[in-house]
Amino acid sequence: MTSSSRPTNDESRSVDYETIPVRVLIVGAGAAGARTAIQLVEQGLDPEDILVVGKRSHGDAHTTWARGGINGALGTHDPEDDWTIHAADTLNEGHHLNDPAKVEAVTRRMPALLRELDDWGMAFSRTDEGDIDQRYFGAQSFRRTAFAGDHTGESLLDTLVERAQSLSIPYRENVFVSKLLTDDGGDRVLGAAATDLDTGDFLLFDADAVVLAAGGYTSLYRRHSSRDDENTGDGPALAYDAGARLMDMEFVQFHPTGMVGARYGEEWDGRLVTEAVRGEGGHLYNAQGERFMERYSPDQMELDARDVVARAIDEEIAAGRGTEHGGVLLDISHRDPEFIRERLPRMYERFADLGVDMATEPVEVAPTAHYGMGGVVVDDAGETTVDGLYAIGETMAGVHGANRLGGNSLAETIAYGQVTGDAIAARLADWSAGSGADPSALHDAAGRHFADLASLAGSTGSIRPDALLDDLRATLWDHAGIHRDEAGLTAGLDALATLRERATGLDVADCTDRSFEFALNLQFGLTVAEAILRSAAERPESRGAHHRPDHPETDPDWRRNVVVERGTFGTMALSTAPVDEPSPAVRDALDAGYELDYHQLE
Ligand code: FUM
Repeated sequence: MTSSSRPTNDESRSVDYETIPVRVLIVGAGAAGARTAIQLVEQGLDPEDILVVGKRSHGDAHTTWARGGINGALGTHDPEDDWTIHAADTLNEGHHLNDPAKVEAVTRRMPALLRELDDWGMAFSRTDEGDIDQRYFGAQSFRRTAFAGDHTGESLLDTLVERAQSLSIPYRENVFVSKLLTDDGGDRVLGAAATDLDTGDFLLFDADAVVLAAGGYTSLYRRHSSRDDENTGDGPALAYDAGARLMDMEFVQFHPTGMVGARYGEEWDGRLVTEAVRGEGGHLYNAQGERFMERYSPDQMELDARDVVARAIDEEIAAGRGTEHGGVLLDISHRDPEFIRERLPRMYERFADLGVDMATEPVEVAPTAHYGMGGVVVDDAGETTVDGLYAIGETMAGVHGANRLGGNSLAETIAYGQVTGDAIAARLADWSAGSGADPSALHDAAGRHFADLASLAGSTGSIRPDALLDDLRATLWDHAGIHRDEAGLTAGLDALATLRERATGLDVADCTDRSFEFALNLQFGLTVAEAILRSAAERPESRGAHHRPDHPETDPDWRRNVVVERGTFGTMALSTAPVDEPSPAVRDALDAGYELDYHQLE
C-alpha cells in the first residue's frame, strides 16, 4: 500500500489517498461477491490477491433479507423435475426476453451447487427422510425451492462468509466505491476509487479485474423491500459511467406482498412478507372477504406469477376493496400453528412482535418494489464490454428477462459466482504482464474523482440528499410503477430534470457522515432512474412486469431487449437487440407445456 498526494484538475488543490494494489477487486459482499471470491481461491488464486469490499458491516449484505428460498431442480418431492424444466419455467416467467444461455448456466448448475452448500453446512430445512426439503413458489411447475425456514438468505450468507473466512479471503467493510477507473479509451478497467466511510479516507484500488456484485436498484422506489441505503443502483450506475451497457432496466419486479406501513408503522412499509407464506398455502382476501385471485387466475391462484398477483392486489385496492390501511389480507391461519412456526419462523416472530398472531389472524399486505430484472450487459462469463470489468448477481442483466421467478435470485448469485470466478481465474495469466495502460491514467483519473468527492463533502447547499432521494423514490413510484404510460413517463423525465437541478445545491457534511453516502446514492439513483424511465418509454407494449395501459398487449415484434449506453454530450443512447433461442433440450421442455397446478396444494 502506498499513500499519494496528487495534483488534481484544480491545480491549486491536491487530495491525499491510499493506493491498494490487488489482482481482483470484488465490489459487494453479498452472496454473489462471496461465492466469486471462494471460486477464485478454489481455482488456485492466492487469497491475498483478492479483496472483497462492502458498504455495510461484514455479513450484513442485502442477501440476508432474501427469505423464502433458492431454486434448483433436486426433485426431492417431484422426481420428474429437472434443470430443463427449471429453465423453461424461468423463460416463461421472463416472457422470453431472458438470455437462454445464462438461464441454462444457472439452472443446469443449481442441483450440484445446492448440494455443495449443504456440504458446507448450510442449514437447509429437511424432509422427515433427511433430504433437502423443497416448497412451492410462484409459477414453478414443481416444488423446486429449497429453503432454510424463511431465513434462507441469512443462512446462505452465513455459510459463504464462514467458507470465505476459512479460506482467509480478505474483506474490508464500510467502503463505498464511487467510481470505476479505466484507461483513456474506456476499453480496460484499471481499478476503482472509494471512500472508507469509517475514517473518511480516500482509497484507490489498482486492480487487474473488478467484479461488480453490488446489488440492484429497487430501493429507488417509494415502497421497497430493501433497506434505504442498499439497492440504490450502485452497480448499474458505476458500470454505465465506466462505459458498459445496461439492459432491460424497465423491468422492475413488484413483489405482491409487502408490509403495509399504515398498519404496522412506516419503518415497516414495503418490507417483505415472503412468498413462502403463499407457497405454504396462504390465501389472499380483499376487505369484503372475497378470495379475489379466483377472478384473476383460477388455475394458479395466489401462486401465479408475481406481476399477475401484484396487479390483482393493486386493482382490488384501486377499486376500493382494500383495507382501510391500503392493503389486502394474507391469511395462513388455516394451517397448523406448529407448521407455521416451523416453516415461517421469522415472519411469525416479526408479526408477533407487532401484536399479530399469524396462526390465528391475517396480515395486511400490498405490492412493493423488490427486484430489478435489468442491469449490466455481460457475456456468458459475466464480463461487460469493458475489458476486465465483470457484473454478476442482481447487478447483471439477462437471467430473468421481463420478470423473475421467486427463488431464482439467490440461485443466480451462486451460479454466477462460480461461472465468473472460473472465468477470471482462467484469464489472470493474460493480465500478469499488466494492463499495458499508462499507470498515470489511473492516478490522474483517481485524483480528479477524489477532488470532486472532497468538494462534495462539506457542500453548503440547502438541500438534504436524503430528502431528494425520497423525492426521486416518489417520482419512480408515481411514473414508472406497476402501471406506466407515455404521459406519465414523460412527466417522470421532466420531474427527474428538476431533481437533477436541485442536486446541484446539496447540503453535505464530511465523508464519514450519512449525508455524504446519501449524496453518492443520489448520483447513482439519478442515472438509474433515467435509464428506467427512458427504457420504459421505449417499449410500447405490456410484457411481464412492464405494464402499459396505453399499450396493453404483448407485441411479438418487441421480443427484443432495450439497451442503454452513454451517448454523446452526456446523453443516454437507447437501442434494441434481439434475443437468442434456447437449446433443443430446453425447447423440448418448453414445448411439453409444464405448469404449476395450484390445486395440488389444497
Ligand atoms: O418472497 C420471497 O421470499 C422472495 C424471494 C425471492 O425474491 O427470490
